[in-house]
Amino acid sequence: MEKFVIHGGHPLYGEVSISGAKNAAVAILPAVVLSEGVCVIENLPKISDVAIMLQILTDLGAKVRMLSDSVAEIDPRPISTPVATGELLKKMRASYYLIGALLGRFNEAEVALPGGCDFGTRPIDQHLKGFAALGGQATVRQGNVRVEAPVLEGSHIYLDVVSVGATMNIMLAAVKAKGMTVIESAAKEPHIVDLANFLNTMGADIRGAGTDVIKIRGTDHLTGATYSIIPDQIEAGTYMAAVAATGGDVLVRNVIPKHLDSITAKLEEMGVEIEEFDEAVRVRRTKPLRRCNIKTMPHPGFPTDMQPQFGVLLAIANGTSILTEGVWDNRFRYIEELRRMGVQASVDGKIAVFEGVPELSGAKVRSTDLRAGAALLIAGLVAKGETQVGSIVYIDRGYENVVEKLTGIGADIERRAFPDEDAVPAVR
Ligand code: EPZ
Repeated sequence: MEKFVIHGGHPLYGEVSISGAKNAAVAILPAVVLSEGVCVIENLPKISDVAIMLQILTDLGAKVRMLSDSVAEIDPRPISTPVATGELLKKMRASYYLIGALLGRFNEAEVALPGGCDFGTRPIDQHLKGFAALGGQATVRQGNVRVEAPVLEGSHIYLDVVSVGATMNIMLAAVKAKGMTVIESAAKEPHIVDLANFLNTMGADIRGAGTDVIKIRGTDHLTGATYSIIPDQIEAGTYMAAVAATGGDVLVRNVIPKHLDSITAKLEEMGVEIEEFDEAVRVRRTKPLRRCNIKTMPHPGFPTDMQPQFGVLLAIANGTSILTEGVWDNRFRYIEELRRMGVQASVDGKIAVFEGVPELSGAKVRSTDLRAGAALLIAGLVAKGETQVGSIVYIDRGYENVVEKLTGIGADIERRAFPDEDAVPAVR
């Protein structure tokens, strides 16, 4: 089993370059299925979620060729089946985008229900509500969801919950529906806009992405396209939080500063200095962190995917801070691990209260999900002594070259293999 081994207490200095956005890439790759030509997708992050999605497309019959580490040429024309029920689909959440994409192409789809990070229930009722509005009949059986729509008709859809996944999935089916589809209470994250921009590059007619109301005029044909994924807002925010935690001065390059507004605002509230450039932000922390309160919200609010990372900042800030999780039911499991490192926090439902402590101590901890793993890495960078972060498969799902990027700004971190300590002795 591999772990990250970190010796903390070093401020971070230098430059780090941000990769393409995971949550855009895992939606844009399935969207290629809708194309009647070859697509070239650039700035793909080298993470396991992208590798899995490329393999799923290959297993469906697409011709996938890597032109470089971060550029994939994909010809979806050989795909002849609307069925994607392999085991790989259960390894990630975003595999459910294949429902919308296959439905848009074949008027039917049968896809394995997704896996993904576990922070409470992760229903797909809003996705199914959207497909039903477009004329789809959905059934769930043997762990697969099947949707059939003899005719996809545009419709006016009012989402009951602001959902990134449902907004993207409905968009993927609606681009091939007859007539106009309107999505009300749509999610507004940067990756929603990126998917819409990609689909429009293929010849779709989508307006309003990034606002509460998205209008999609269905088209009969979508062509091949070349498209570059936007930089990852959450990877960038994670490195910004790491510098805020350890202290130091780092230039975070290849970002869209506008996408980081809510993260920047919170860091400045805590006393961190942020300087914005066209495609970079400079993060400096020389004074102790000030306490603050945070509530996660759908974009443009503070991102839930930055919640665990900022939990570490509140844990070492001066004073008492309140962290409210406004999106998921149970996204505080990482705090149990942080307590092993000396964090003082109490959790009651969607609210965590942190009493800042002057110092963290290294410990053996385990990632419970992707962003929780990122939080444990940040805690290890701050803590005195050695921290071992286990279950790093989660971190590899969403962070490209994390050891190289962190050592590049002065962290003492390595990936090390360990004998399987979890082996349970056989019953005699
Ligand atoms: C996406 O998940 C992201 N994953 C998550 O990031 C992120 O936390 C989340 O959006 C919110 O920003 C990907 O993009 C692959 P939602 P998604 O549908 O689409 C409820 C990461 O770390 N809901 O916006 O699954 C749901 O329970 C991952 O990169 C319904 O009730 O999230 C939640 O409370 C973790 N019914 C809220 O909406 C539905 O049909 C937001 O969920 C769908 C969602």
